[in-house]
Amino acid sequence: MSNIVLIGFCGVGKSSVAKELSKDLNLSLIDTDVLISCIENKSIKEIFEEDELSFRNIEERLSTFLQKNIKNSIISVGGGFTKLKGLGKIIYLRASFNYIFLRLKDEIASRPIFNDLNRAKEIYLNRLELYEKNADLIIDVENKSIKDIALNIKESL
Ligand code: S3P
Repeated sequence: MSNIVLIGFCGVGKSSVAKELSKDLNLSLIDTDVLISCIENKSIKEIFEEDELSFRNIEERLSTFLQKNIKNSIISVGGGFTKLKGLGKIIYLRASFNYIFLRLKDEIASRPIFNDLNRAKEIYLNRLELYEKNADLIIDVENKSIKDIALNIKESL
């Protein structure tokens, strides 16, 4: 089976949905942020704020590694992970910026992309097309529980 890859903006629920799906479908779970944080032995916030470009380079190299080596897995990628071709079936978890912001309100400090709210909105708007273009499937996630989103995905597979 090819991998199931969850994409979408920071805070949309990719990691939680990926955990739920991996449990339900009994598949391995890969979270690119967790992997990068382990490789670098630093938090994503530290890596990102020290040098965003080097973070993006690691994401690209990781994408090549995943393409070559990983099958039958659920992969959750960071919101700015752009090298998606050949990784698997791409599922875009979609929500409005306002919904994401409200969902993240209390943990915004750990999300570097939200350091500047206006900039975050601009990045969100710029990425919409990229997410849609890459998606094999789009799931609207607003006001849905993690379990319901996972169920929607399973029904569509
Ligand atoms: C980023 C999203 C984050 C993380 C990093 C950059 C982005 O991942 O990779 O802070 O550029 O949108 P999540 O989308 O899992 O929060």
